[in-house]
Amino acid sequence: MRKCPCVYVVLLCSAVLKTFVDCVDDIEEKERYSSSTVGLLKLLKVEQEFIDSLISKADQLGDKFVSLRLYLSSVGYELNRSYNERVVYVSNPINAFSLLRRIHKDLPKWHAFFKEDIGKGDLSTLDDVVKKVPSDVDMLSAVRGIQRIERVYDLKLDDLAQGVLQGVQYNTKLTYRDLIAMGDSMYQQRDIQAAAKWYRIACKRELENSEELLVGILGDPSEPLHRQYVKSLFIYASILSEPSKPIEEVLIMGENLLAHASLEELDSIMSDLNDPRIDAEVEKVLYRAKRSPSNFEIGCRGLYRRKTNLECRYKSTANAFLRLAPLKFEEISLDPFMAMYHGVLYDSEIRALKGQSWNMVNGYASERNGTEIRDTVARYDWWTAASLTRERINQRIVDMTGFNFPSDEKLQVTNYGLGSYFQPHFDYSSDGFETPDVTTLGDRLASVIFYAGEVRQGGATVFPEINVTVFPQKGSMLYWFNLHDDGRPDIRSQHLVCPVVNGDRWTLTMWIPMFPQMFGYPCKS
Ligand SMILES: *[C@@H]1O[C@H](CO)[C@@H](O)[C@H](O)[C@H]1NC(C)=O
Ligand SMILES: *[C@@H]1O[C@H](CO)[C@@H](O)[C@H](O)[C@H]1NC(C)=O
Ligand SMILES: *[C@@H]1O[C@H](CO)[C@@H](O)[C@H](O)[C@H]1NC(C)=O
Repeated sequence: MRKCPCVYVVLLCSAVLKTFVDCVDDIEEKERYSSSTVGLLKLLKVEQEFIDSLISKADQLGDKFVSLRLYLSSVGYELNRSYNERVVYVSNPINAFSLLRRIHKDLPKWHAFFKEDIGKGDLSTLDDVVKKVPSDVDMLSAVRGIQRIERVYDLKLDDLAQGVLQGVQYNTKLTYRDLIAMGDSMYQQRDIQAAAKWYRIACKRELENSEELLVGILGDPSEPLHRQYVKSLFIYASILSEPSKPIEEVLIMGENLLAHASLEELDSIMSDLNDPRIDAEVEKVLYRAKRSPSNFEIGCRGLYRRKTNLECRYKSTANAFLRLAPLKFEEISLDPFMAMYHGVLYDSEIRALKGQSWNMVNGYASERNGTEIRDTVARYDWWTAASLTRERINQRIVDMTGFNFPSDEKLQVTNYGLGSYFQPHFDYSSDGFETPDVTTLGDRLASVIFYAGEVRQGGATVFPEINVTVFPQKGSMLYWFNLHDDGRPDIRSQHLVCPVVNGDRWTLTMWIPMFPQMFGYPCKS
């Protein structure tokens, strides 16, 4: 049986002997900050609340007032970040990961430390903040987000650690403690090779000067790091030399070996490993087997060959609406037909749709399999409230595509977070992801997506069967057919959402049901 990773839930489960499935349900209802920028912004607010309540108690802190300043500088606290600055901050996966890790792992320690001195005052605001700390599941999602970005885009770990994303250097990097957290998580997931890579990079960093003062509060991670690094190299070497040996056995050997190593022995092994020639050998072994990318990964990287027989024009022929206001129209694929309109969602509409996103729920990348904890992909909500803006958008879809549906249809609003993605899937009902009401309206003939956020890197929509990649452009709309003319599923409509590398990816989705199109089936070009 899997270990239930959430402490509260473990206690709850063992106390009342709930079934494990109930336990998973509890986890899934807990806030996951990592899977959307909306969530990450909430998390930034949690940190802000903690800082505000400390500052308001500054006069009670006594000697610890100095530590408060240290705390502020260690979290890179900036007074008065504007909303846009906060969005840019959490859109970068390095910042997002650091934020999540430090609140998950460090904030409770700071809380205990400060609480000691201001124990007499009213502590309810400080205590409330600690209740909002991200869960272990959320932390694991963040780790997987970073890992996904690294693998899908084939980023060099050293670059990622330094804040270089697809060749772009950002003014941020993973901290020493972030790198160790990545290594530890990989180790727990039995990906020993990846663990050793992260540990190796961490070992090349020093504890930053100011951080030495933090050691008393947060603990000194260096010695455990060195042990873990040596252990994972030993285990990885054993796996390479005896691939048939069960991994758990090798792990136990590694644990035993390092459990008895003295500090002197450890230091001496570390100084060997720091020798540049030995390190180069280690690097060669750790990085040698290069996986060739899957076809969808090639798509996510934007490396499909460009199609040449397509055109881009101002469209003004389809109907009265377009004659009045010609729109920039781009063919993406002729067979199956797929096209895009540009500049068709306005900033005021984007603000309105983001206003529909306060009750977002988790979307899952995989169907539930028994007690398996599913990957959260992104968060979504339905825009159901009556709204002139929503009606205008629906009417625009009708005008642009020629499809027929009532203008008060609900729309789906989705927001992606740290390394969020959606695995390859179909929008028609037999795929079973989310079954539409096919009896009254028919299956999903076509899909319409508006891109409503600024995505600087990654987050493309990829159709791997036909080698098509569409990068999100704020204000653009993409539509395609999921069914053949006779209503059979068209497997070429399979698509996925690539992990967002850096950005605030928002989409607005509408699925066009088949039956209402029977008499006005739109011309496909
Ligand atoms: C921060 O914002 C507050 C209110 O919005 C303002 O009074 C204050 O002067 C600002 N501080 C800085 C450093 O900009
Ligand atoms: C569920 O997962 C198990 C182990 O990962 C696998 O053997 C089984 O086939 C899966 N079941 C379904 C219905 O996917
Ligand atoms: C798609 O691209 C792959 C290479 O990534 C190529 O092998 C394949 O033939 C292409 N398929 C189509 C339908 O163009």
